[in-house]
Amino acid sequence: MRYGHFDDEQREYVIERPDTPLPWINYLGCEDHFGIISNTGGGYSFYRDARLRRLTRYRYNSTPLDTGGRCLYLRDDAAEVGATPLVWSPSWQPVRRELDQYECRHGMGYTLIRSRLQGIEADIRYFVPLGDSLEIWEVTIANRRSRPANLSLFAAVEFCLWDALDDASNFQRNLSVGEVEVVEGVIYHKSEYRERRNHFAFFACSAEVAGFDTQREAFLGPYRGWESPSGVQAGLLSNSIAHGWQPIGAQHTRLQLKPDEAKTVVFLLGYHENPPDDKFDPAGSQVLSKRSLTPIIARYRQPQEVEAAFLALRHYWDELLGKLSVTTPDPHTNRMVNIWNVYQVMTTFNLSRSASYFESGVGRGMGFRDSNQDLLGFVHLAPERARQRILDLAATQLPSGGAYHQYQPLTKLGNNDIGSGFNDDPLWLVLSLAAYIKETADWDILDEPVPYDSNPELAEPLYGHLQRSMQYTLDRLGPHGLPLIGRADWNDCLNLNSFSDTPGESFQTTTNKDGKVAESVFIAGLFVLAAQEMVGIARHRGEADAFSDAASKIEDAIWAAGWDGAWFRRAYDDSGNPIGSKECEEGQIFIEPQGVCVMAGLGVEDGRAQRALDAVADRLATVHGIVLHQPAYSRYYLHLGEISSYPPGYKENAGIFCHTNPWIMIAETRIGRGDRAYDYYLRINPSTREDLSDVHRCEPYVYAQMIAGRDAPAHGEAKNSWLTGSAAWNYVAITQWILGIRPTFEGLEVAPVMPSTWDGFKAERYFRGVRYLIQVERTGPGNEIRLEVDGHPIEGTVVTLPPVGTQEVRVIAKVGPG
Ligand code: BGC
Repeated sequence: MRYGHFDDEQREYVIERPDTPLPWINYLGCEDHFGIISNTGGGYSFYRDARLRRLTRYRYNSTPLDTGGRCLYLRDDAAEVGATPLVWSPSWQPVRRELDQYECRHGMGYTLIRSRLQGIEADIRYFVPLGDSLEIWEVTIANRRSRPANLSLFAAVEFCLWDALDDASNFQRNLSVGEVEVVEGVIYHKSEYRERRNHFAFFACSAEVAGFDTQREAFLGPYRGWESPSGVQAGLLSNSIAHGWQPIGAQHTRLQLKPDEAKTVVFLLGYHENPPDDKFDPAGSQVLSKRSLTPIIARYRQPQEVEAAFLALRHYWDELLGKLSVTTPDPHTNRMVNIWNVYQVMTTFNLSRSASYFESGVGRGMGFRDSNQDLLGFVHLAPERARQRILDLAATQLPSGGAYHQYQPLTKLGNNDIGSGFNDDPLWLVLSLAAYIKETADWDILDEPVPYDSNPELAEPLYGHLQRSMQYTLDRLGPHGLPLIGRADWNDCLNLNSFSDTPGESFQTTTNKDGKVAESVFIAGLFVLAAQEMVGIARHRGEADAFSDAASKIEDAIWAAGWDGAWFRRAYDDSGNPIGSKECEEGQIFIEPQGVCVMAGLGVEDGRAQRALDAVADRLATVHGIVLHQPAYSRYYLHLGEISSYPPGYKENAGIFCHTNPWIMIAETRIGRGDRAYDYYLRINPSTREDLSDVHRCEPYVYAQMIAGRDAPAHGEAKNSWLTGSAAWNYVAITQWILGIRPTFEGLEVAPVMPSTWDGFKAERYFRGVRYLIQVERTGPGNEIRLEVDGHPIEGTVVTLPPVGTQEVRVIAKVGPG
């Protein structure tokens, strides 16, 4: 069953009814100012950091689901006499009055909601313009009745007192600090501005305002909710000024519309900073200085400026999405590669795992491991932003080579809430940096001085950071010569040194063991993969390669202690017993080491990779994707940690992590099995799952972190959509390995391992300033490749850079026997 459809031409997903199984969301903003918006206008806004600069409130576990957010109300002022007035929300929520027509279109950085009730049409466009820190809600109301309409339009937001965690807990203080100003129809939220803050929020309206409220209970009425504010019911706001309690911004404007007349009102919800020494106007007063903001508000109050900003946003996305586009025989592939997957990649790059409808914005900032992986899919879109991100990440690395597990986007400082000691973390920096250099050939980045622990006195060239990342693993080898796992590796919940028996204790920060025994085969595979990149980098710099011997030793250790006979083992626990082995009662085989070891080339030549991948197909693959391990853990195991805390089939306990599935897709291409790789790709491709929306339940246009595994009662049901490494890895798997277009240090490689049923495909890829027009033609079975570049056959599969000044290169790839 579906709840909407794709409009590929407009690059929109069109939701046809408001009551989707879960709120289906989109993101507004591409740079510093962000909003999360659902298909009924729910969600919240923040500046850079969803925890420290939250502009509006959101209650994650409230009922009814997803109320509050961006509240719009229409009131038919003519129909009020003697009867209950006709009041509705043109975005359905929060009033939830049934609409005659409804449609929500989520597009690239904008959302449109259109609806109609009793002849009144509403057309709302929400977006964040490039370069300014505000959210625009452009509301057009049209009267399709045969008689004039007298309407009131209300818009309301509930302000958050900046730090979202504090806002939801520190009520003894918060209920006394709220402050606002209202000047010329603009509501300014300035709580704590009197003291150390130099920023405030504002909520403006382009039309003449009939009234406003800034005190929540004055607007809603005592003991009432957002679905029926008393001010809206009465058609009259009370011009309340908030002192403490709950500051809001509610605006009221009246619309008189003749038949077929339409009017547009623009609401602006924004954030502004003043220089710390120029906060007040006049100086010495307590009045906000609005000097630098007034022109911005004046600009966006004009519809033509709003239109221009919207066109600029469309253009921005046209450019980004044009960096790689493909035409394959499959519409799901085309749609995801050309539009939605890449859009999600950008979102994960921007927000890591901080703010979604599953990530509350307060717990997880920018993950070190996560952001490095997000970069793998993102780097071709905006290399200069990728460069900065790499430098930011590396600056939080510790002198030991280890890393804080996350950092706060506002301060860019490592965040000790989750601490450090996830022993895979540093290796991901090597992979992301290698991907960046392959894309850009910016070798100079390696000489950039970068601090450790954000301390400039500890700076050293970035190349040194890479070496310490590698050395970090080598300094921490366990009894089998495999890397020690530390707090956890990629699987945050495989906590082999935690042994937690206290309810509520964090598995990731509790360590009861000395950490000198539990080892990870996954980190071993990752090390071999990273070492290959280090060898490539060293070679280019004309330096001795420092890590291939170490990688061979780790490979030996994998074969000696990490191979179980038919697949790779997962780890060794604190007692030195294997995990992910046929010897285990539960958790006999895990997906992660099969993926990463084969990606690193282990067993590709001698058939062991194939055996491992056959075991994945036999034991882990389901119609909804590949589960993390089998059998699921049926009870809690003290020595395994959080993984066994989940009921079977959910999350890390044998859920389908869409993040790890692409590792198997890539591994399958490494052994030449394009059909199998592509089959796995389609199983979790959100667009192919659109028809199953009643089972899948999350948005059909983006990947979710997890789909419930075969042991779960709701097998196939997705959770944690949007902010997941699944975006980058699925993008890498399909574009670089199945379609086979991948940057290398030497040039652009074209080496597809595509489905046997495909005759070929076309692609357009901008790479280091050159446009590559790639045509792939199948000449027969198999994966043998012959390339012609601008009409000339070349050796191998890497197209080296053309002479400087060349704008365009044509590549024909013949796949099959020559
Ligand atoms: C985390 C990742 C982790 C994955 C598996 C995600 O929630 O953000 O860092 O690799 O879970 O545990």
